[in-house]
Amino acid sequence: MTTDFFSPVTAGKLDLPNRLVMAPMTRSRAPEGGRVTDLTVEYYVQRASAGLIVTEAIQPSPRGQGYLWTPGLHDPAQVAAWRRVTDAVHDAGGRIVGQLMHSGRVGHPSLRPDGTNPLGPSPLASGQSLFTPDGPLEHPVPDEMTVEDIATTIADFVQAARNAIEAGFDGVELHGANGYLIHQFLADGSNVRTDAYGGSAGHRVRFVRELVEAVAGAVGAERVGLKISPGVTANGITESDTAGQYTTLVREIAPYGLAYLHVVESGNRELIRTLRAAWPGAFVLNPHPEEPTRAARPDEGAQALRDGVADAVSFGTLWLANPDLPARLRAGGPYNEADPATFYGGDHRGYTDYPVL
Ligand SMILES: Cc1cc2nc3c(=O)[nH]c(=O)nc-3n(C[C@H](O)[C@H](O)[C@H](O)COP(=O)(O)O)c2cc1C
Repeated sequence: MTTDFFSPVTAGKLDLPNRLVMAPMTRSRAPEGGRVTDLTVEYYVQRASAGLIVTEAIQPSPRGQGYLWTPGLHDPAQVAAWRRVTDAVHDAGGRIVGQLMHSGRVGHPSLRPDGTNPLGPSPLASGQSLFTPDGPLEHPVPDEMTVEDIATTIADFVQAARNAIEAGFDGVELHGANGYLIHQFLADGSNVRTDAYGGSAGHRVRFVRELVEAVAGAVGAERVGLKISPGVTANGITESDTAGQYTTLVREIAPYGLAYLHVVESGNRELIRTLRAAWPGAFVLNPHPEEPTRAARPDEGAQALRDGVADAVSFGTLWLANPDLPARLRAGGPYNEADPATFYGGDHRGYTDYPVL
């Protein structure tokens, strides 16, 4: 059984020199055309001592964009911009996967050049609002996805995953957490479909199963991870049977041989143990043994590894504020505090200027 952060671990095609994963974090610093900039190159290079970096969420298509200033992987200029990040991270000795996220019903027509309405499994609004410089905007009622929309969306993910490999990423992570499209299909509060994509736990898994199959078929399962957040109610998600839904999911996805499953814990260690036992591959835990009202702590990650509930642990906030996190963990701290005022948008402040030890 592993007892520390600093032993190597394999996740599919990914050989990680340590068990510290940088969790994906949207930073909204791609103000033009969904292209990341030199500042983003610097930000990720600073964090190259992670066993694995998972990037901020990246939209696989214009219609998958949920927020202002987030990057894409659906046109050649975006691919070229990401190439600079991946080359620089590799030169610095790191590994990096791109997180692909379609935001589904989370979004707004005013964010999109073509003014299209967000898509969702069912015409049910999140009940939440979206930050914009002009004030908050309610998420609208999404257009219910047709079977053709589903096929188009999966094809967009496949192309974006191919683009990610062309851009030099070591793989992709599919964002099935935190109330975005995949999660909207899984949750019975947002998916009330009566066709093959809704109505039972197995039907609600169908979208992500088809997506996993298609993306794995395109770039190799051993380069694909999936992130989920059972019990997380972000973006208006409700799940009436979290344990049943996610045990069904894991059972159906396990045969594909993905590189890893990345799970945000939500105060339910028993469920984490159940999912871990049912998952044949590498298991990355974002440790929140208590309700996640604060950032995960180093001791919570260390304990999870010691207890054998994960092969690797991910931290978000800690990595955001501590570019040299492994060095700080070895030294037993201290840790910089993250400043939420600079999480989304802006310049280098709160992005590339957190000091190293
Ligand atoms: C600023 C910020 C942006 C985030 N953006 C994403 C994202 O793009 N994709 C994602 O899967 N999770 C996102 N998260 C969630 C983190 O990946 C992580 O699951 C969460 O912060 C809990 O971990 P922590 O307690 O270590 O911060 C974000 C979190 C923060 C703080």
